[in-house]
Amino acid sequence: MHKDWYKIEGGKRLEGTAIISGAKNASVAIIPAAIMSGECCILENLPHIQDVSTLETILRQIGAEVDFTSGDCMRIDSTHITSTSVVSEEVAEMRASYYLLGALLARFHECDLALPGGCVIGKRPIDQHIKGMRALGAEIQVDEEHNILHARARKLVGTEIFFDMVSVGATINVMLAATMAEGTTVLSNVAKEPHVVDVANFLNMMGASVKGAGTDTIRIKGKPRLHGCGYSVIPDQIETGTFMIAAAATRGDVIIKNVIPTHMEAVSAKLMESGATVIEGDDGRDFYIHVIMKDKPRPVSIKTLVYPGFPTDLQQPMMAYLSTAAGVSTITETIFESRFNHVKELRRMGASISIRDNMYAKVKGVNSLHGADIYASDLRAGAALIIAGLMANGTTKVHNIEFIDRGYEYFDRKLMAIGASIERMHV
Ligand code: EPZ
Repeated sequence: MHKDWYKIEGGKRLEGTAIISGAKNASVAIIPAAIMSGECCILENLPHIQDVSTLETILRQIGAEVDFTSGDCMRIDSTHITSTSVVSEEVAEMRASYYLLGALLARFHECDLALPGGCVIGKRPIDQHIKGMRALGAEIQVDEEHNILHARARKLVGTEIFFDMVSVGATINVMLAATMAEGTTVLSNVAKEPHVVDVANFLNMMGASVKGAGTDTIRIKGKPRLHGCGYSVIPDQIETGTFMIAAAATRGDVIIKNVIPTHMEAVSAKLMESGATVIEGDDGRDFYIHVIMKDKPRPVSIKTLVYPGFPTDLQQPMMAYLSTAAGVSTITETIFESRFNHVKELRRMGASISIRDNMYAKVKGVNSLHGADIYASDLRAGAALIIAGLMANGTTKVHNIEFIDRGYEYFDRKLMAIGASIERMHV
């Protein structure tokens, strides 16, 4: 299959207004969760990205009626779910399909799931998901040969679960399963990301009783049935951060709208520390973040942490930005074991980056980057390489952009609208 690529003429300041779409990492959990209602759910502010369209396909494969043709609004009618076996290739190729385990176990007490593979950023096991489901009373068998997980439960019974480590996916998945368990479940050592809170809010709109999302402990009172509802997904924290960093990286002046500034505090703080001006405001309709950058960034040190720390998903874009800082920056990746695949590509553009133990990066600022043919290895590496292309002198070709299509809605069009010279090329 021929692959598209982006042609970028670098060196142009980004100026103007960018509008943020709905959160990918909330959407990929809320769409599966909707089938717990057994009725009709109307979801708004969903992004038109590959991961959402993959989930549309999967829900139809198990009998749900899905309509995503009117703007950013998706209608899901899960009255007639015909199968609890989600083993198609679409399922295997998209990690977040594992949320169907929690949703199908909750409503039907059974699920066969094609297991997500690891990916370039790490092995990404799901042992904490399995630990939580077993604690609720599910029997889980993993068929290693066919890479399929079989889950069955006579019933699910609420209990206390302490996660061995903070995991966004496990927190959300076990929260789904506990929502319709008998009795109360207390989840401790949970993830507090904005999308965890958004899923909890959606569950409560369907009639669940989920309290404490966003704190270290989530209390869930199980309900025998849920009902359909309407819901609007939060703006995407990582897309917001990507545009903030792109504005600063091109010495730009960009107003970013449809955002939740409190979700961005760690990113705003680091950008201000590097010399950017970051103004939060409310124009009466939308919250916005205004990023202005006049000079070379000052070097900073970044350590990725669970929320509200600096998000691992913005580590890669930040490294591109810091590659022309006036000094040496350090980046420590504590969440994933191999999230530096973009480094070799940045080096081909002239960046001076050294890595130790695949966890510590030292970024020695160079005067400027130069254009090159570069290859995205994952979604956020792709975003980092586009930012590097926007910064570089000359022409950059970013290949493997199907990774970027998974998580950024209309990325090139949004960048063009604020002055970028970026063109999607079809081979
Ligand atoms: C979610 O992945 C996001 N994906 C990731 O975003 C994000 O980087 C990550 O959270 C951290 O914020 C979605 O929400 C769809 P984790 P998830 O479980 O849930 C280990 C993007 O670019 N772990 O919090 O898979 C795991 O290997 C993507 O949008 C276990 O060991 O992340 C990792 O090292 C990339 N056992 C760490 O925990 C488990 O059972 C954090 O993973 C689960 C996770």
